[in-house]
Amino acid sequence: MLIQTRNDGFVHPLSSEITPQSAYEDRRRVLKLMASGAAGAALASWASRDALAQAAPAPGKLAALKGVKSTVPGAQTMEKLTDYKDATTYNNYYEFGTDKADPAKNANTLKTAPWTVEVEGLVKKPGKYGLEDLIKLSAQEERVYRLRCVEGWSMVIPWVGYSLSELIKRVEPQGNAKYVEFVTLADPKTMPFVGSRILDWPYTEGLRLDEAMHPLTLLSFGMYGEVLPNQNGAPVRIVVPWKYGFKSGKSIVKIRFVEKEPGTAWNKAAAQEYGFYSNVNPNVDHPRWSQATERRIGDGGGLFAKRTKTLMFNGYEPQVGQLYAGMDLKKNF
Ligand code: MTE
Repeated sequence: MLIQTRNDGFVHPLSSEITPQSAYEDRRRVLKLMASGAAGAALASWASRDALAQAAPAPGKLAALKGVKSTVPGAQTMEKLTDYKDATTYNNYYEFGTDKADPAKNANTLKTAPWTVEVEGLVKKPGKYGLEDLIKLSAQEERVYRLRCVEGWSMVIPWVGYSLSELIKRVEPQGNAKYVEFVTLADPKTMPFVGSRILDWPYTEGLRLDEAMHPLTLLSFGMYGEVLPNQNGAPVRIVVPWKYGFKSGKSIVKIRFVEKEPGTAWNKAAAQEYGFYSNVNPNVDHPRWSQATERRIGDGGGLFAKRTKTLMFNGYEPQVGQLYAGMDLKKNF
């Protein structure tokens, strides 16, 4: 995400344009082969590498967290899973740095135990949930969601968690609760970029109450059958598959029910670029780039990164389209 709006002269790098090291190395390797006349062989090996590529299971280094296959409509897909390595080394988690490789390098300092999530605001039953209690609050399900970043790349990840609505029903929102705000951890001692001027910390996000109640909105504790790696938002995060990835706040410490639309981290940083709704919408370009297509991470590699058409609501239109009936989605971007 590129920020040019600050008047202190700070210009943020456009992370979508940063080539991952593996792609760069592959490119160098193929260019070398081309120079030696072996381009055909290189292309063949590249193609077979892709054809053979299967999603690697999690390496088994983290605690297992299994879920039953979800039957929520839209929660399964036949699409190839993103390789675990790609899903855990190509991340946005700005508290740990702005390069895609930074979270995997730096998030080992994140302290995920003990962990408490506070539910507050306009609810009849506010309270503090220890992580273990929160995990046990409902049956863990496995959901395979596409997640598309506003920067134009996407992944397919098997998440573990349960519908956020399970928690919301327990805490009983009051009649005037219209929005849910998610507040994520901002600990300058363990998060090296908290305190920098990149964003207003803590990173916050928000949903309309009906969006938060939609069965596809996931409170997630794991992926690939294990607890979340730190860089992916351990120990608990939101995953909203029909919205751009930045709506899916990581490492959540507070869930607050409010009457008015809450401010959100990227909207505060650049309101004209990142609206509150942030539904994946190929018909609304980002002011500085098109949203019509996307690049699936690990699919086709760095050399010939093929782009596929981005679908309205990231392909979840049958499930979520009715939430926005009658709304002007160009205005409410
Ligand atoms: N949450 C916090 N706390 N900090 C962040 O920088 N980045 C967002 C979102 N949640 C972010 C965050 C963005 S821009 C994206 S694309 C997704 O996390 C990436 O999630 P992933 O690591 O599962 O791909």
